[in-house]
Amino acid sequence: MDNVSQGIPHGLVQGKVTKKIEWNDQLFSLHVHAPVSPYLAGQFTKLALPLVNEQLRLTEPAIATEYAAFPENSNPERQEYVRRAYSMVNSPSHALGHQHLEFLIVKDASGQLSPKLHELNTHDEIFVGKEPSGFMTLEEIPPAAKDLWMLATGTAIGPFIAMLETPHMADKFANIILVRAVRTQQDLTYQSRIAQLVHQFQGKLRYVPIISRESITGTLRGRIPTLLLRGELEHASSIAIDQQHSFFYLCGNPAMVRDTSEALKQIGLTKHLRRQAGQFSSENYW
Ligand SMILES: Cc1cc2nc3c(=O)[nH]c(=O)nc-3n(C[C@H](O)[C@H](O)[C@H](O)COP(=O)(O)OP(=O)(O)OC[C@H]3O[C@@H](n4cnc5c(N)ncnc54)[C@H](O)[C@@H]3O)c2cc1C
Ligand SMILES: NC(=O)c1ccc[n+]([C@@H]2O[C@H](COP(=O)([O-])OP(=O)(O)OC[C@H]3O[C@@H](n4cnc5c(N)ncnc54)[C@H](OP(=O)(O)O)[C@@H]3O)[C@@H](O)[C@H]2O)c1
Repeated sequence: MDNVSQGIPHGLVQGKVTKKIEWNDQLFSLHVHAPVSPYLAGQFTKLALPLVNEQLRLTEPAIATEYAAFPENSNPERQEYVRRAYSMVNSPSHALGHQHLEFLIVKDASGQLSPKLHELNTHDEIFVGKEPSGFMTLEEIPPAAKDLWMLATGTAIGPFIAMLETPHMADKFANIILVRAVRTQQDLTYQSRIAQLVHQFQGKLRYVPIISRESITGTLRGRIPTLLLRGELEHASSIAIDQQHSFFYLCGNPAMVRDTSEALKQIGLTKHLRRQAGQFSSENYW
């Protein structure tokens, strides 16, 4: 039976949660097995769950009963799904293969999908976009780039871990600087995996954690654009920003992306376009 006759909309495939890690009350990782197409490190896909009828049952039971009484409404093809984009944390070349996907997710209590994803457990069913996509990949970085700066807020550390775990990544750049900003220390997920990467890269990878709302030894306090303009990111990483050789990927909170893009322009860098090489590019999470 094909997907549509099973009631799964075009573009989605059925998967299973194989593991769940709860980092704190809001942050969690889901490992999912699903028959998706190959992807590139840095890309994202959709996660989806059936929604409308279930929500109706919970919020408007009388309407739900009336709705279900019409034969056309019991047609599974009418089932609605809520879907959102999530970036893969694991490189497609990892040991279990590209159909084992790992996602780092923050629950937004007022959101439609993330609280439902938070309720999932191992063996639960989940729906996944069959075709991953996205242009924040190693392949899009111009060849002149020697120092790669990866700037992330919150859960946007994920696609950068996927890039860092790509085979031969250390050979592609002279230096890689991973800057990740979170609100509080408890939001610093994947610390041991990052420490392992720093060790593997033998000095080529610098990690600069930023905590905006707490002062913690070994981290910077503040926001990425301010720290950048004050020279604190260069100081903490011991790498100088250079118009010829630096390339920046910015990912996560759209306000950070906007303000950091302005800061980068102030220091003379330009946005990278396929038709005109520049020094920075970005992906907004909302
Ligand atoms: C390319 C891309 C990749 C993404 N990858 C991830 C990922 O790996 N992990 C992840 O948790 N989310 C990711 N997102 C965000 C995700 O798609 C959803 O928007 C998010 O989970 C909220 O969905 P919701 O249905 O719960 O909330 P909605 O009902 O859609 O409400 C959205 C609100 O939640 C807030 N919000 C959305 N995403 C985030 C976030 N990541 N961090 C902080 N606040 C947020 C914003 O205030 C927004 O207004 C990505 C988005 C894009 C476009
Ligand atoms: N993480 C938590 O403890 C927490 C608690 C309650 C609710 N939530 C909810 O969970 C969701 C995710 O929160 P999150 O903490 O993962 O993501 P977030 O709100 O995007 O914060 C991540 C980092 O981005 C910084 N930032 C925000 N705007 C910026 C800008 N214009 N320029 C530069 N940096 C900027 C934040 O600094 P600032 O701290 O200075 O804003 C923080 O360091 C949100 O929807 C939030 O409402 C999270």
